[in-house]
Amino acid sequence: MVFALDLAKRTMNIYNKIIEDHDKQRDLCKKITNTSLSTDQKEMIWKELKKELEVHAVAEERYFYSPLIDSDKMQEDARHGMAEHHEMDELIADIDNISFSDNMWMEKVKELTEKIEHHLKDEEEEFFDKAKDIYTDKEEESLAKGYETTMKEYKKEWPESIPS
Ligand SMILES: [Fe+2]
Ligand SMILES: [Fe+2]
Repeated sequence: MVFALDLAKRTMNIYNKIIEDHDKQRDLCKKITNTSLSTDQKEMIWKELKKELEVHAVAEERYFYSPLIDSDKMQEDARHGMAEHHEMDELIADIDNISFSDNMWMEKVKELTEKIEHHLKDEEEEFFDKAKDIYTDKEEESLAKGYETTMKEYKKEWPESIPS
């Protein structure tokens, strides 16, 4: 039964919920940087990646970063993380203005995937550890629930669900 308990614990805190979605982003980043994609494939994967990133940023800001803004220990990190979300949004908008057949498209996509990788690393290897000293187990659990619900709802209504 140790395994079952472990599993329950693993799925029910904010960090593990977020990591599950980070893994989806990593997978899509890998797919989209494949240079032999057709225009249709690029379009499909790009839409999927955009949705993952945009919905995740909203849910993560609400259920991971916002409560940390008031803590002395993590205020800077929370601001830094959210500023990077903003930078990613701008890059996404740039990419949306480039044609899939333009060489510039892949260059910009690569720039974005590098930014994503760096950002996920900051969160997983630095911010989560620090946040664990701030959030209680109960909070980590309830934040996970809120995060999960928001992800589902916002994905259903995407792209209209994303505040501009
Ligand atoms: Fe993030
Ligand atoms: Fe994240």
